[in-house]
Amino acid sequence: MLLTVKDLHKSFNDREILKGIDFQIEKGEIVVMIGPSGSGKTTFLRNLNFLEHADQGSMDFSGHQIDLAKPEKKDVQWVRRHSAMVFQNYNLFKNKTALQNIAEGLIYAQGMAKDNANDIASKELASLGLSKQAQLYPSQLSGGQQQRIGIARATVLNPEIILFDEPTSALDPELVGAVLGDMRKLAEAGQTMIIVTHQLGFARQVADRIVFFDEGKIVEEGTPQELFDHPQNKRTAQFLTALSDAN
Ligand SMILES: Nc1ncnc2c1ncn2[C@@H]1O[C@H](COP(=O)(O)OP(=O)(O)OP(=O)(O)O)[C@@H](O)[C@H]1O
Ligand SMILES: [Mg+2]
Repeated sequence: MLLTVKDLHKSFNDREILKGIDFQIEKGEIVVMIGPSGSGKTTFLRNLNFLEHADQGSMDFSGHQIDLAKPEKKDVQWVRRHSAMVFQNYNLFKNKTALQNIAEGLIYAQGMAKDNANDIASKELASLGLSKQAQLYPSQLSGGQQQRIGIARATVLNPEIILFDEPTSALDPELVGAVLGDMRKLAEAGQTMIIVTHQLGFARQVADRIVFFDEGKIVEEGTPQELFDHPQNKRTAQFLTALSDAN
């Protein structure tokens, strides 16, 4: 296993939001997480890279054993160096160009020389067909372009795993396709990914496994076919019906 999480608990203001999550993912595997609003999907991803601090739980990431409630600084750094997160609202640096946003992590997190980092960033932009946008600032880019830059910024770091939190949910419908296209390419290249999304068509195509979250627990998991076509849990079935009614 690339990543194993055991018995992860997290409360906010005495309210338990994650109620003991056990989760694992293999190298190259693609897991899609679905579940109602407020069920804890974002909190789970944020705990994995220490944007939140867990109350209890353990993690084994590529052989590093980490107590999530009392992580050592070197473990936090190691995990952050080997994972990346793509957010719903892009989180690009507003005062940096597209190129600088992609080069940023290479320079500051990996200590790469600036010329070298810019070179890699510009090749990445070219491969995405975004060379014309290299010198533009986030406010000059469409939401879809910003998110594609956000994904490029994550992938150039060569992370062991990328965590996606609803990467297309803030986008106008016509911009969703290009972002999912970039993610499909990553999938084909064997990138390990955890993706929170309600794009069920996409999930069916790329996911090895679907995980259904409800009220701070993983209630059910299985292949897309198992989970979408033959949900075993009543809550899973209700959620899928509500989602398809909304579309
Ligand atoms: N920093 C925080 N302080 C207090 N409560 C929080 C905090 N972050 C999240 N919560 C609460 O934790 C619960 C789970 O939130 P979370 O964002 O993880 O849900 P989600 O499954 O990602 O929902 P959505 O589908 O709407 O994104 C919610 O009730 C939320 O209000
Ligand atoms: Mg969320």
